[in-house]
Amino acid sequence: MSLLASTREELAKLLDSARREGASIGFVPTMGALHEGHASLMRVARERVGGGPVVVSIFVNPLQFGAGEDLDRYPRTLEADLEVCEREGVDVVFAPSVDEVYPGGDPQVTVAPGPLADVLEGKTRPGHFGGVLTVVAKLFGLVKPDVAVFGEKDYQQLALIRRMSADLCLGVDVVGAPTQREADGLALSSRNRYLSPEQREEATTLSRALYAAQREAAHGVEAALQAARAELRRAKGADVDYLVVTDPALAELSTHPEPATEARILIAARVGTTRLIDNMSLTIGASR
Ligand code: PAF
Repeated sequence: MSLLASTREELAKLLDSARREGASIGFVPTMGALHEGHASLMRVARERVGGGPVVVSIFVNPLQFGAGEDLDRYPRTLEADLEVCEREGVDVVFAPSVDEVYPGGDPQVTVAPGPLADVLEGKTRPGHFGGVLTVVAKLFGLVKPDVAVFGEKDYQQLALIRRMSADLCLGVDVVGAPTQREADGLALSSRNRYLSPEQREEATTLSRALYAAQREAAHGVEAALQAARAELRRAKGADVDYLVVTDPALAELSTHPEPATEARILIAARVGTTRLIDNMSLTIGASR
């Protein structure tokens, strides 16, 4: 049975014996509204820690939402989330209040995410990654995991958390898990539930564009981008914020990459009022 902790003390108590026995602790931080994508992260955590405890946190972190973003309407579905955790054999669910995480209000000391947070998502959502890294650092401090699992769907977030763990010597093995998709390619996201049936249909444009790019990547970066843009032109309802090809660490790709260079294509678009992101790997200049 998944045990629920809503305070730091309860969490510490529930993890006490595992810590004393020296068991590895696996951690999946989430904002709830759990879906199959989150369940897959829990399974990766389980694989990594074997019989050690898997902890899932459910916390909608105000610090990572900008003014006018969806903090108030972000889905909060604790009962259903607990069922997902139970089904996946999660040992401890940590679902704290805002006061429990931020006693006394916003923290005075926060994590500065560095230049990687100024591009892509960070350009449109200033302050977002500072908020993400600050809460993840706090949660790492409370859970003290050996391994933490994050979805590749939030690729820039994953890169920044990896970087934070390495640069600040947090000692947490940050593991990325593949994006889970609907049968028609749409990447699973808690925000998909904002979409009307028509918007849900339009939203598949993002993954279709990325698949088109993958198919053309053998002919180079420009061919991949053109294929993606052609797919996007066919859609009416997706307002594209960015479509870029980078190296796997999100650095600029050389203008003439060697054959079989690994790369990443990333897209963000607004469908109605919902901002969606997706990304895929590309192999430039080699048939897949
Ligand atoms: O990806 C998310 O759900 C959130 O950004 C995270 C990592 C749980 C931090 O609030």
